[in-house]
Amino acid sequence: MSLPAKKHKAEKRFIITQQQPMSPYSEQYRVIRTNLELLTQRTSMKTIAVTSADKEQGTTTSLVNLGVVMAQRGKKMLLIDGNIRKPALHLFFRKKNQYGLTDILADPHMRTTEYILPTSVEGLSILTSGSQKGMGIDLITEQFTVLLEKFKRIYDVILIDCPPAVENANAQIITSCSDASVMVIRFGKTKKDKALKAKENLKKGSSQFVGTVVLDKRKLKKSHFFNRNVLY
Ligand SMILES: Nc1ncnc2c1ncn2[C@@H]1O[C@H](COP(=O)(O)OP(=O)(O)O)[C@@H](O)[C@H]1O
Ligand SMILES: [Mg+2]
Repeated sequence: MSLPAKKHKAEKRFIITQQQPMSPYSEQYRVIRTNLELLTQRTSMKTIAVTSADKEQGTTTSLVNLGVVMAQRGKKMLLIDGNIRKPALHLFFRKKNQYGLTDILADPHMRTTEYILPTSVEGLSILTSGSQKGMGIDLITEQFTVLLEKFKRIYDVILIDCPPAVENANAQIITSCSDASVMVIRFGKTKKDKALKAKENLKKGSSQFVGTVVLDKRKLKKSHFFNRNVLY
């Protein structure tokens, strides 16, 4: 007996910097953007992995909003969903996660550009995680590096959405293939020991751990970017 098909209500996510650009939250993302811009210009970093110590910390939300405010400043942006087990990037842009990163990596000719989707934000494109889902889909360092090198020739900045950095093989591959990694921390939610462990893991990788985005919904002034390696 087959089970009845589960009715699936498409989840939609809201992009505050696009819908409410004058809100204080959007202003906070612009402050973080300025810090990131200074850093990327100084060091010519192009690929930035955005990760967290745990799930539901606001990683994808931060990555999307940073992507939008950077595109609004004229940067040619690409956002990649590297969270294969729990993809979410497509939900923010009302796209289907039909083909994407995992399909490119499974394609021997790596025809990259046909998998990239334009968005309603000028200058901002996305690569969703793709048709291969779930456990056991492991990225391969060499392939991922080649792919990022291709993208670097096309885009100004590439932000990569990562699974939580603690003991996740794909997070380690993505962060080590990127020029820099940033960790999102949610004030009052992220556990300190997990955050410190994640930071240690990131620092062990070959990319540069450049800082922490701290989100706090209650105290807006606390949402900011620390351009340093110390957490607390
Ligand atoms: N700054 C924030 N303050 C409070 N809640 C947030 C914040 N950013 C995101 N959220 C909420 O937290 C949940 C998880 O966000 P998400 O970006 O998907 O996290 P992650 O990618 O780390 O799993 C969502 O319901 C989102 O609306
Ligand atoms: Mg996420």
